[in-house]
Amino acid sequence: MKILVTGGTGYIGSHTVVELQQAGYEVVALDNFDNSSPEVLDNIKKITGKDLVFGKVDIRDKTALTSFLKAQQGIDAVIHFAANKAVGESVANPLKYYENNVGGTVNLLYAMEAAGIQQIVFSSSCTVYGEANPPVDESAEMPVANSPYGNTKQICEEVLKDYSQASEMKVVSLRYFNPVGAHESALIGELPLGVPSNLVPFITQTAIGKREMLTVFGNDYPTPDGTNIRDYIHVVDLAKAHVAAIEYLAKKKYTAPFSVFNLGTGNGNSVLEVIETFEKVSGVKLNYRIGPRRAGDVVQVYASCDKAANELGWRTEKSLEECLSSAWKWEQAIQTK
Ligand code: NAD
Ligand code: WQD
Repeated sequence: MKILVTGGTGYIGSHTVVELQQAGYEVVALDNFDNSSPEVLDNIKKITGKDLVFGKVDIRDKTALTSFLKAQQGIDAVIHFAANKAVGESVANPLKYYENNVGGTVNLLYAMEAAGIQQIVFSSSCTVYGEANPPVDESAEMPVANSPYGNTKQICEEVLKDYSQASEMKVVSLRYFNPVGAHESALIGELPLGVPSNLVPFITQTAIGKREMLTVFGNDYPTPDGTNIRDYIHVVDLAKAHVAAIEYLAKKKYTAPFSVFNLGTGNGNSVLEVIETFEKVSGVKLNYRIGPRRAGDVVQVYASCDKAANELGWRTEKSLEECLSSAWKWEQAIQTK
C-alpha cells in the first residue's frame, strides 16, 4: 500500500514515516518546513535505508496540493499531521490556526476527492475533552474548547464526520494524549522552536543547561502530590498506532465511516513524578522550582485505551522511563550537532 503523510518531517510524522516504511508500506510525504527541516529526510533514510518520495507543499495552497496528490499515482490512504500546535500562539493568533488547521484539512479533503483517495487518518488531541473525569473514553462529551487550537481539532473532527457521511471517505481520528520521547537512534525527535512550552523538552533543555530552571506550574491541585496529571505516551508507540489505523481501514474493520480512538498509555503521571523519573534515568539533578498555576491547565487527564486495544489491536509497549531516557538521548544528540 502507498500512504501519503502530511507533516511528514514533523515530530510525530517523521516517526510514523519510519514505522510505515519498516512495516513495508510505500510512503510519500509532504511538508512546508514551517516547523521542521529538510535534514529530517536524510535522517529518516539513515534509519530505514529506504527512499521517500517527498514534496515541499503547503496545504493552504489548494492548487499545489491537488496537483501533488494527482501526480502521485495510486495513493491508498492519507495520514494527516500537518497543522500548527502551539496552544498559546493560537490564543494570540487564532486566524492562523483556523486557516491552517481547518482550512488546510478542507483543502486536503478536496484534493483527496480529486485524486480519488478515500481513506484518512487524522491527528486529533486529548485537548478535545477539556477537564474530564479520567480515565476518559471516546464517548465523553466535548466541552467548549478552551483554546482556538483545541477548537480547530473539534471542528476538524466534525468536518471529517460530516464529509464521511456525504461521501465514500472513511475516517479514523486519533486523539493523542501527551506524546514524548524520541526514536532510539536519536536521529529524529522533537525540535521545539524557541522556548518550549511542553514539559519534557523543557526538562531536557534545563538538564543540558540551555534553560536555567524549570518552573512547575502549581502544586496546589487536588492530586496526590498537588501537581497536574497527564498520560505521557512514547512517540514510537504513537507512530505504531498509525500503522494499526491504516490496517484497520484497509481491512474494513470499521462499523461506521468515522471512527475515533484515544491513544495513550492509560496511566497518569504527575509533573513531579516525571521530574523524579527523569532524574533517575539521566542521573542529572534537575534545577526546578514550584511556581504559580498556568492558565488553561486541566487538573488531570489520562486515557481509557480499551477501544484502541480491542479494535485496532494496539497498545503501548514503552514505559515512562523509556520515554524520558530517549528524550534525554535526543537532547544530547542535538546538542553535539
Ligand atoms: P510538528 O509541528 O512537529 O509537525 C507538524 C508538521 O506539519 C511540521 O513539520 C510542519 O512544518 C508541518 N506543517 C504545518 N503547517 C503546514 C502546512 N500548511 N503545509 C504543510 N506542512 C505543514 O507537530 P507534531 O507534534 O508532529 O504534531 C502533528 C499533529 O499531531 C498535529 O496535527 C498536532 O496538532 C497533533 N497533535 C500533537 C500533539 C503533541 O503534543 N505533539 C498532541 C496532540 C495532537
Ligand atoms: C504537561 C504538564 C503543565 C511546562 C499540551 C497541549 C495539548 C496536547 C499536548 C496538542 C502540565 C506542566 C509544563 C513547564 C510545567 N497538544 N508543565 N512546567 O498542557 O498537558 O498538553 O500538549 O494537541 O493540547 O495543551 O502538555 O507538556 O505543556 O504540560 O509544570 O514548563 O506539565 O502545567 O501539567 P499539556 P505540557
